[in-house]
Amino acid sequence: AGTCDIYASGNTPCIAAHSTTRALYSAYTGALYQVQRGSDGTTVNISPLSAGGVANASAQDKFCASTTCLITAIYDQSGRGNHLKQAPPGAFHGPEADGHDNLASAIGAPVTLNGQKAYGVFISPGTGYSNNAASGTAIGDEPQGMYAVLDGTHYNDGCCFDYGNAEISSTDTGNGHMEAIYYGDNTIWGSGAGSGPWLMADLENGLFSGLSPSNNPSNPSLSYRFFSAIVKGAPNLWALRGGNAASGSLSTYYSGARPSVSGYNPMSKEGAIILGIGGDNSNGAQGTFYEGVMTSGYPTDATENAVQANIVAAKYATSSLTSGTALTVGSSISLRATTPGYTTRYITHTGSAVNTQVVSSSSTTALKQQASWTVRAGLANSACFSFESVDTPGSFIRHAAFGLTLSTNDGTKLVSEDATFCPQTSLNGQGSSIRSWSYPTRYFRHYENVLYIASNGGVHTFDSATSFNNDVSWVITAGFA
Ligand code: AHR
Ligand code: AHR
Repeated sequence: AGTCDIYASGNTPCIAAHSTTRALYSAYTGALYQVQRGSDGTTVNISPLSAGGVANASAQDKFCASTTCLITAIYDQSGRGNHLKQAPPGAFHGPEADGHDNLASAIGAPVTLNGQKAYGVFISPGTGYSNNAASGTAIGDEPQGMYAVLDGTHYNDGCCFDYGNAEISSTDTGNGHMEAIYYGDNTIWGSGAGSGPWLMADLENGLFSGLSPSNNPSNPSLSYRFFSAIVKGAPNLWALRGGNAASGSLSTYYSGARPSVSGYNPMSKEGAIILGIGGDNSNGAQGTFYEGVMTSGYPTDATENAVQANIVAAKYATSSLTSGTALTVGSSISLRATTPGYTTRYITHTGSAVNTQVVSSSSTTALKQQASWTVRAGLANSACFSFESVDTPGSFIRHAAFGLTLSTNDGTKLVSEDATFCPQTSLNGQGSSIRSWSYPTRYFRHYENVLYIASNGGVHTFDSATSFNNDVSWVITAGFA
């Protein structure tokens, strides 16, 4: 059975079922999601390999070979048409030119399920999906349940990495107008034990970790790589439950009365669906979504426990984030441009500026050192890499406002993440393309001989689609120094 078959037998059927990794009904054979490729703008739907099965990730890989791909739709498997698409501007505007949010890279969150490759939805700040005209979702004080499988190690303190019920206007219409799963370490509203991240419920103008609208020490900090998150709500009743999505059972972090603050009892749910953003299209948060559903009715704990067993049986596991030229931690490398007319230029730094310069064996020792980088395990994720300056030990290539700079490693989460890159087989067939871990739509790119993390056809000048594949492809050699 799929998780939605389990909810149906508990008389709390799914009214929305989203997953890029697998079918959530044993009989489902339809499309799971849609990707659009950068080379020609065409789209393809990705379906399960078999009824009820894992997504056909190799169909995506084939379609996206030698170009970039974005996830343009996450289809609703419930039959109600509650698909998730690029979120429109709300009270807050997204980074796209017309105020829409960004779309997720199709390759930011590779995993395996029972050994078969699949991709999750890697949400960087600025990315969001929604459906403001959903049908069958809970309205007002109607009961609902939700679960989502998330990457418990991918989060931040921005507002708000959510999945669930929100405003149909993408604006804040008041307390109780949302009821969504939240995951992260935002402390503006509620918090739990330790320093987070926590599972909380976004009920609008508040992230709730339990009965108190502020701190609830019985709500634990979480660190599962794969996390099963549950939020459910009914008249004057709601619960937070969670557990390791790769093994074991669920714990109940809170179950009881609605917050005593005014506006949350009764609730005023509006029934839109959001993913990766707050109810007002706040889009500063990050996280990874693999699968999730919303139900009609308040599921029993027993139903959810069976759903958790089904998730565990799907056997989520990590998969390689890198490909292309193999890198050895501790070695020194240089990276040569492959764009015709620029092939004598290497990635160098001039002070804190990261750029390209013409470098050769007869260059000065100083320039050779500026063009040489020590490969380190990724500061934020050891499955990827960081690049430390040979002539300025302790300083790493990082992105900030999408430009690359040389920066000391101050040990903060943001700098570590900004300095973590996942090389992959290059887009033009020469060498490797160096993908940002935290913004996987973006790659090391030279533009007017200055280095950026660029997306293929994005809003910045340096995102230009012209020459993109060449500009993001680098031949990696032994370091000059
Ligand atoms: O409830 C927390 C956040 O507050 C909501 O997601 C957003 O709509 C508002 O800014
Ligand atoms: O480069 C994009 C973002 O810009 C980085 O994550 C952050 O450090 C800066 O604000």
